[in-house]
Amino acid sequence: MSEPLVLGIETSCDETGVGIVQGHTLLADTVASSVDLHARFGGVVPEVASRAHLEAMTPTIDRALKTAGVTLDDLDAIAVTAGPGLAGTLMVGVAAAKAYALALGKPLYGVNHLAAHVAVDQLEHGPLPKPCVSLLVSGGHSSLLLVPDVATDVRSLGSTVDDAAGEAFDKVARVLDLGFPGGPIIDRTARTGDPASIFFPRGKLDDGTYDFSFSGLKSAVARWVEARERAGEPVPIADVAASFQEAVVDVLTRKAVAVCKAHDVDHLQIGGGVAANSRLREMAKQRCDKAGIRLRVPRPGLCTDNGAMVAALGAELVASGVEESRLDIPADSSLPV
Ligand code: KG4
Ligand code: ZN
Repeated sequence: MSEPLVLGIETSCDETGVGIVQGHTLLADTVASSVDLHARFGGVVPEVASRAHLEAMTPTIDRALKTAGVTLDDLDAIAVTAGPGLAGTLMVGVAAAKAYALALGKPLYGVNHLAAHVAVDQLEHGPLPKPCVSLLVSGGHSSLLLVPDVATDVRSLGSTVDDAAGEAFDKVARVLDLGFPGGPIIDRTARTGDPASIFFPRGKLDDGTYDFSFSGLKSAVARWVEARERAGEPVPIADVAASFQEAVVDVLTRKAVAVCKAHDVDHLQIGGGVAANSRLREMAKQRCDKAGIRLRVPRPGLCTDNGAMVAALGAELVASGVEESRLDIPADSSLPV
Protein backbone atom coordinates (compact mmCIF):
# COMPACT_ATOMS: atom_id res chain seq x y z
CA MET A 1 0.00 0.00 0.00
CA SER A 2 1.28 3.48 -0.82
CA GLU A 3 1.75 5.90 2.06
CA PRO A 4 -1.48 7.34 3.42
CA LEU A 5 -2.74 10.60 1.91
CA VAL A 6 -4.18 12.61 4.79
CA LEU A 7 -5.82 16.03 5.09
CA GLY A 8 -5.38 17.72 8.47
CA ILE A 9 -7.46 20.53 9.96
CA GLU A 10 -6.18 22.77 12.78
CA THR A 11 -8.35 25.34 14.59
CA SER A 12 -7.17 25.23 18.22
CA CYS A 13 -6.40 28.96 18.36
CA ASP A 14 -6.40 31.73 15.75
CA GLU A 15 -4.95 29.90 12.74
CA THR A 16 -7.23 28.03 10.32
CA GLY A 17 -4.69 25.51 9.10
CA VAL A 18 -5.24 22.88 6.43
CA GLY A 19 -2.41 20.55 5.48
CA ILE A 20 -2.11 17.60 3.15
CA VAL A 21 0.63 15.02 3.49
CA GLN A 22 1.48 11.67 2.00
CA GLY A 23 3.40 9.78 4.67
CA HIS A 24 6.26 12.14 5.57
CA THR A 25 5.91 14.19 2.39
CA LEU A 26 4.30 17.61 2.65
CA LEU A 27 1.99 18.38 -0.28
CA ALA A 28 0.16 21.46 1.00
CA ASP A 29 0.23 23.70 4.07
CA THR A 30 -2.38 26.44 3.88
CA VAL A 31 -2.97 28.80 6.77
CA ALA A 32 -5.51 31.62 7.13
CA SER A 33 -4.77 33.57 10.29
CA SER A 34 -7.12 35.90 12.15
CA VAL A 35 -4.20 37.35 14.13
CA ASP A 36 -4.76 40.86 12.74
CA LEU A 37 -8.33 40.88 14.08
CA HIS A 38 -6.97 40.28 17.61
CA ALA A 39 -4.10 42.77 17.55
CA ARG A 40 -6.10 45.64 19.01
CA PHE A 41 -7.18 43.45 21.95
CA GLY A 42 -3.58 42.39 22.71
CA GLY A 43 -4.56 38.71 22.70
CA VAL A 44 -6.74 36.17 20.91
CA VAL A 45 -10.50 36.73 21.41
CA PRO A 46 -12.09 33.24 21.19
CA GLU A 47 -15.43 34.37 19.76
CA VAL A 48 -13.76 36.43 17.04
CA ALA A 49 -11.42 33.52 16.20
CA SER A 50 -14.31 31.02 16.00
CA ARG A 51 -16.19 33.14 13.49
CA ALA A 52 -13.05 33.64 11.43
CA HIS A 53 -12.51 29.85 11.34
CA LEU A 54 -16.04 29.32 10.08
CA GLU A 55 -15.54 31.76 7.23
CA ALA A 56 -12.07 30.51 6.32
CA MET A 57 -12.66 26.74 6.57
CA THR A 58 -14.03 25.77 3.14
CA PRO A 59 -11.86 28.16 1.09
CA THR A 60 -8.75 27.03 2.99
CA ILE A 61 -9.53 23.36 2.35
CA ASP A 62 -10.13 24.11 -1.33
CA ARG A 63 -6.82 25.98 -1.60
CA ALA A 64 -4.91 23.14 0.07
CA LEU A 65 -6.42 20.55 -2.32
CA LYS A 66 -5.53 22.72 -5.29
CA THR A 67 -1.95 23.22 -4.07
CA ALA A 68 -1.50 19.48 -3.45
CA GLY A 69 -3.08 18.61 -6.81
CA VAL A 70 -5.41 16.06 -5.25
CA THR A 71 -9.17 15.72 -4.87
CA LEU A 72 -11.25 14.89 -1.80
CA ASP A 73 -11.83 11.42 -3.25
CA ASP A 74 -8.08 10.73 -3.31
CA LEU A 75 -7.77 11.15 0.49
CA ASP A 76 -7.28 8.14 2.75
CA ALA A 77 -8.29 9.95 5.95
CA ILE A 78 -9.25 13.25 7.55
CA ALA A 79 -7.40 14.31 10.72
CA VAL A 80 -8.39 17.16 13.01
CA THR A 81 -7.13 18.74 16.21
CA ALA A 82 -9.53 17.50 18.90
CA GLY A 83 -7.72 19.40 21.68
CA PRO A 84 -6.24 20.97 23.69
CA GLY A 85 -7.12 24.53 22.67
CA LEU A 86 -9.96 27.04 22.79
CA ALA A 87 -13.27 25.17 23.11
CA GLY A 88 -15.17 27.28 20.58
CA THR A 89 -12.49 27.33 17.91
CA LEU A 90 -11.77 23.59 18.25
CA MET A 91 -15.46 22.89 17.75
CA VAL A 92 -15.44 24.56 14.31
CA GLY A 93 -12.60 22.35 13.07
CA VAL A 94 -13.99 19.16 14.59
CA ALA A 95 -17.45 19.80 13.11
CA ALA A 96 -15.96 20.47 9.67
CA ALA A 97 -13.77 17.33 9.81
CA LYS A 98 -16.74 15.18 10.83
CA ALA A 99 -18.82 16.58 7.98
CA TYR A 100 -16.11 15.87 5.39
CA ALA A 101 -15.42 12.39 6.81
CA LEU A 102 -19.08 11.48 6.85
CA ALA A 103 -19.86 12.88 3.42
CA LEU A 104 -16.81 11.22 1.83
CA GLY A 105 -17.00 7.96 3.78
CA LYS A 106 -13.37 8.41 4.92
CA PRO A 107 -11.97 7.58 8.38
CA LEU A 108 -11.70 10.43 10.89
CA TYR A 109 -8.76 10.85 13.28
CA GLY A 110 -9.12 13.27 16.20
CA VAL A 111 -5.54 14.16 17.18
CA ASN A 112 -3.79 15.83 20.06
CA HIS A 113 -2.42 19.28 19.24
CA LEU A 114 0.78 18.81 21.28
CA ALA A 115 1.61 15.47 19.68
CA ALA A 116 0.95 17.07 16.28
CA HIS A 117 3.55 19.78 17.02
CA VAL A 118 6.04 16.92 17.51
CA ALA A 119 4.93 14.87 14.48
CA VAL A 120 5.38 17.79 12.07
CA ASP A 121 9.13 17.52 12.52
CA GLN A 122 9.05 14.33 10.40
CA LEU A 123 8.00 16.34 7.34
CA GLU A 124 11.31 18.15 7.47
CA HIS A 125 13.78 15.76 9.09
CA GLY A 126 12.36 12.29 8.42
CA PRO A 127 11.32 9.68 11.01
CA LEU A 128 11.62 10.76 14.64
CA PRO A 129 14.10 8.75 16.68
CA LYS A 130 12.39 6.56 19.26
CA PRO A 131 12.50 7.87 21.90
CA CYS A 132 13.05 11.60 21.62
CA VAL A 133 12.34 14.49 23.96
CA SER A 134 10.23 17.40 22.80
CA LEU A 135 10.14 20.93 24.14
CA LEU A 136 6.85 22.51 23.10
CA VAL A 137 6.65 26.23 23.54
CA SER A 138 3.81 28.32 22.16
CA GLY A 139 1.27 30.94 23.18
CA GLY A 140 -0.83 28.29 24.86
CA HIS A 141 1.67 25.69 26.04
CA SER A 142 5.09 25.15 27.52
CA SER A 143 5.66 21.44 27.94
CA LEU A 144 8.43 18.90 28.10
CA LEU A 145 7.41 15.62 26.53
CA LEU A 146 9.06 12.23 26.46
CA VAL A 147 8.13 10.68 23.13
CA PRO A 148 8.78 6.94 22.78
CA ASP A 149 6.39 6.86 19.78
CA VAL A 150 4.61 9.94 18.46
CA ALA A 151 1.58 7.92 17.30
CA THR A 152 0.98 5.88 20.42
CA ASP A 153 3.06 7.01 23.38
CA VAL A 154 3.63 10.66 24.25
CA ARG A 155 4.22 11.43 27.94
CA SER A 156 4.11 14.82 29.60
CA LEU A 157 6.99 15.25 32.08
CA GLY A 158 6.32 18.87 32.95
CA SER A 159 4.52 22.01 31.85
CA THR A 160 3.99 25.59 32.87
CA VAL A 161 2.21 26.16 36.16
CA ASP A 162 1.02 29.62 35.04
CA ASP A 163 1.74 31.51 31.79
CA ALA A 164 3.01 29.79 28.64
CA ALA A 165 6.35 31.02 27.28
CA GLY A 166 4.72 32.70 24.26
CA GLU A 167 2.15 34.31 26.54
CA ALA A 168 5.01 35.81 28.57
CA PHE A 169 6.55 37.20 25.35
CA ASP A 170 3.18 38.68 24.39
CA LYS A 171 2.58 40.22 27.84
CA VAL A 172 6.06 41.70 28.12
CA ALA A 173 5.66 43.16 24.61
CA ARG A 174 2.50 44.83 25.90
CA VAL A 175 4.38 46.26 28.92
CA LEU A 176 6.96 47.66 26.49
CA ASP A 177 4.26 48.90 24.08
CA LEU A 178 5.68 46.89 21.20
CA GLY A 179 2.50 45.39 19.68
CA PHE A 180 1.00 41.91 19.23
CA PRO A 181 2.00 39.11 18.85
CA GLY A 182 4.98 40.05 20.97
CA GLY A 183 7.32 37.10 20.39
CA PRO A 184 8.66 38.04 16.96
CA ILE A 185 8.88 41.74 17.91
CA ILE A 186 10.83 41.03 21.12
CA ASP A 187 13.07 38.65 19.17
CA ARG A 188 13.89 41.46 16.70
CA THR A 189 14.16 44.19 19.35
CA ALA A 190 16.47 42.06 21.50
CA ARG A 191 19.07 41.82 18.74
CA THR A 192 20.33 45.31 19.53
CA GLY A 193 20.11 44.87 23.33
CA ASP A 194 22.46 43.47 25.95
CA PRO A 195 21.04 40.24 27.45
CA ALA A 196 23.30 40.57 30.50
CA SER A 197 22.32 44.15 31.32
CA ILE A 198 19.43 43.32 33.68
CA PHE A 199 19.08 40.12 35.67
CA PHE A 200 15.49 38.88 35.66
CA PRO A 201 14.39 35.86 37.77
CA ARG A 202 14.44 32.34 36.35
CA GLY A 203 11.29 30.73 37.79
CA LYS A 204 11.52 27.10 38.99
CA LEU A 205 15.04 26.75 37.60
CA ASP A 206 16.39 24.60 40.40
CA ASP A 207 13.23 23.09 41.85
CA GLY A 208 13.94 19.57 40.63
CA THR A 209 10.84 19.43 38.39
CA TYR A 210 10.37 19.79 34.64
CA ASP A 211 7.71 22.44 35.17
CA PHE A 212 8.01 26.08 34.17
CA SER A 213 6.74 29.36 35.60
CA PHE A 214 6.80 32.63 33.68
CA SER A 215 4.28 34.90 35.42
CA GLY A 216 6.81 36.01 38.08
CA LEU A 217 9.25 36.94 35.33
CA LYS A 218 6.61 38.95 33.50
CA SER A 219 5.75 40.81 36.75
CA ALA A 220 9.44 41.44 37.44
CA VAL A 221 9.83 43.04 34.01
CA ALA A 222 6.71 45.17 34.56
CA ARG A 223 7.97 46.31 38.00
CA TRP A 224 11.41 47.14 36.59
CA VAL A 225 9.91 49.24 33.79
CA GLU A 226 7.50 51.01 36.18
CA ALA A 227 10.34 51.89 38.55
CA ARG A 228 12.28 53.44 35.67
CA GLU A 229 9.28 55.43 34.51
CA ARG A 230 8.53 56.64 38.07
CA ALA A 231 12.11 57.83 38.38
CA GLY A 232 11.66 59.73 35.11
CA GLU A 233 14.43 57.72 33.45
CA PRO A 234 14.25 56.36 29.89
CA VAL A 235 13.45 52.65 29.51
CA PRO A 236 16.19 50.85 27.52
CA ILE A 237 13.70 48.80 25.49
CA ALA A 238 16.24 46.65 23.64
CA ASP A 239 18.11 45.78 26.85
CA VAL A 240 14.87 44.87 28.66
CA ALA A 241 13.73 42.72 25.71
CA ALA A 242 17.11 40.95 25.46
CA SER A 243 17.37 40.37 29.23
CA PHE A 244 13.80 39.06 29.46
CA GLN A 245 14.33 36.77 26.45
CA GLU A 246 17.57 35.49 27.97
CA ALA A 247 15.77 34.51 31.20
CA VAL A 248 13.05 32.57 29.30
CA VAL A 249 15.48 30.82 26.98
CA ASP A 250 17.90 29.97 29.79
CA VAL A 251 15.24 28.06 31.74
CA LEU A 252 13.75 26.35 28.68
CA THR A 253 17.05 25.04 27.38
CA ARG A 254 18.44 24.02 30.78
CA LYS A 255 15.37 21.96 31.61
CA ALA A 256 15.13 20.42 28.14
CA VAL A 257 18.73 19.24 28.28
CA ALA A 258 18.20 17.98 31.85
CA VAL A 259 15.26 15.81 30.68
CA CYS A 260 17.36 14.31 27.89
CA LYS A 261 20.16 13.48 30.32
CA ALA A 262 17.83 12.05 32.98
CA HIS A 263 16.11 9.78 30.44
CA ASP A 264 19.25 8.98 28.49
CA VAL A 265 17.75 10.38 25.27
CA ASP A 266 20.07 11.86 22.67
CA HIS A 267 17.57 13.72 20.45
CA LEU A 268 15.77 16.92 21.39
CA GLN A 269 13.02 18.28 19.21
CA ILE A 270 11.66 21.81 19.70
CA GLY A 271 8.27 22.96 18.40
CA GLY A 272 5.53 25.55 18.90
CA GLY A 273 5.54 29.22 17.93
CA VAL A 274 8.32 30.19 20.36
CA ALA A 275 10.62 27.68 18.61
CA ALA A 276 10.90 30.38 15.94
CA ASN A 277 12.86 32.46 18.49
CA SER A 278 16.40 33.05 17.25
CA ARG A 279 17.99 33.13 20.71
CA LEU A 280 16.22 29.91 21.73
CA ARG A 281 17.51 28.17 18.60
CA GLU A 282 21.02 29.46 19.24
CA MET A 283 21.22 28.57 22.94
CA ALA A 284 19.56 25.18 22.42
CA LYS A 285 22.17 24.37 19.76
CA GLN A 286 25.05 25.40 22.03
CA ARG A 287 23.79 23.43 25.02
CA CYS A 288 22.84 20.36 22.97
CA ASP A 289 26.24 20.31 21.25
CA LYS A 290 27.93 20.47 24.65
CA ALA A 291 25.80 17.60 26.00
CA GLY A 292 26.12 15.41 22.88
CA ILE A 293 22.42 15.77 22.05
CA ARG A 294 21.15 16.07 18.45
CA LEU A 295 18.77 19.01 18.00
CA ARG A 296 15.83 19.04 15.57
CA VAL A 297 13.87 22.26 15.05
CA PRO A 298 11.54 22.57 12.04
CA ARG A 299 11.52 25.76 10.00
CA PRO A 300 9.47 28.54 11.67
CA GLY A 301 6.42 28.07 9.40
CA LEU A 302 6.03 24.50 10.66
CA CYS A 303 6.62 25.52 14.32
CA THR A 304 3.63 27.84 14.53
CA ASP A 305 0.14 26.33 14.34
CA ASN A 306 -0.64 24.80 10.95
CA GLY A 307 -2.64 22.02 9.34
CA ALA A 308 0.39 20.08 8.09
CA MET A 309 1.20 19.05 11.67
CA VAL A 310 -2.27 17.57 12.09
CA ALA A 311 -2.04 15.76 8.76
CA ALA A 312 1.45 14.50 9.71
CA LEU A 313 0.18 12.96 12.94
CA GLY A 314 -2.91 11.62 11.15
CA ALA A 315 -0.69 9.87 8.59
CA GLU A 316 1.37 8.41 11.44
CA LEU A 317 -1.78 7.07 13.12
CA VAL A 318 -2.99 5.49 9.88
CA ALA A 319 0.43 3.93 9.23
CA SER A 320 0.62 2.61 12.81
CA GLY A 321 -2.77 0.92 12.50
CA VAL A 322 -4.32 3.03 15.25
CA GLU A 323 -8.09 2.75 15.29
CA GLU A 324 -9.98 5.62 13.68
CA SER A 325 -12.03 7.99 15.87
CA ARG A 326 -15.77 7.73 16.23
CA LEU A 327 -17.83 10.34 14.40
CA ASP A 328 -19.12 11.68 17.72
CA ILE A 329 -15.71 12.61 19.22
CA PRO A 330 -15.92 15.82 21.22
CA ALA A 331 -13.68 18.85 20.95
CA ASP A 332 -11.83 18.71 24.26
CA SER A 333 -10.21 22.00 25.32
CA SER A 334 -8.05 20.28 27.96
CA LEU A 335 -7.26 17.02 26.12
CA PRO A 336 -4.21 15.43 27.80
CA VAL A 337 -1.40 13.91 25.71
O1 KG4 B 1 2.28 27.84 18.13
P1 KG4 B 1 1.66 29.19 17.98
O2 KG4 B 1 1.55 29.76 16.59
O3 KG4 B 1 0.23 29.23 18.55
C1 KG4 B 1 -0.13 28.71 19.79
O4 KG4 B 1 -0.48 27.50 19.88
O5 KG4 B 1 -0.04 29.50 20.75
O6 KG4 B 1 2.51 30.17 18.91
C2 KG4 B 1 2.23 31.56 19.00
C3 KG4 B 1 3.15 32.15 20.05
C4 KG4 B 1 2.85 33.61 20.36
O7 KG4 B 1 2.82 33.79 21.76
C5 KG4 B 1 4.04 34.34 19.74
O8 KG4 B 1 4.36 35.54 20.41
C6 KG4 B 1 5.14 33.31 19.90
O9 KG4 B 1 4.51 32.06 19.63
N1 KG4 B 1 6.25 33.53 18.95
C7 KG4 B 1 7.50 33.83 19.34
C8 KG4 B 1 8.26 34.03 18.16
N2 KG4 B 1 7.43 33.83 17.08
C9 KG4 B 1 6.20 33.50 17.59
N3 KG4 B 1 8.03 33.96 20.56
C10 KG4 B 1 9.33 34.29 20.64
N4 KG4 B 1 10.11 34.53 19.56
C11 KG4 B 1 9.62 34.40 18.32
N5 KG4 B 1 10.41 34.64 17.25
ZN1 ZN C 1 0.25 25.17 18.99
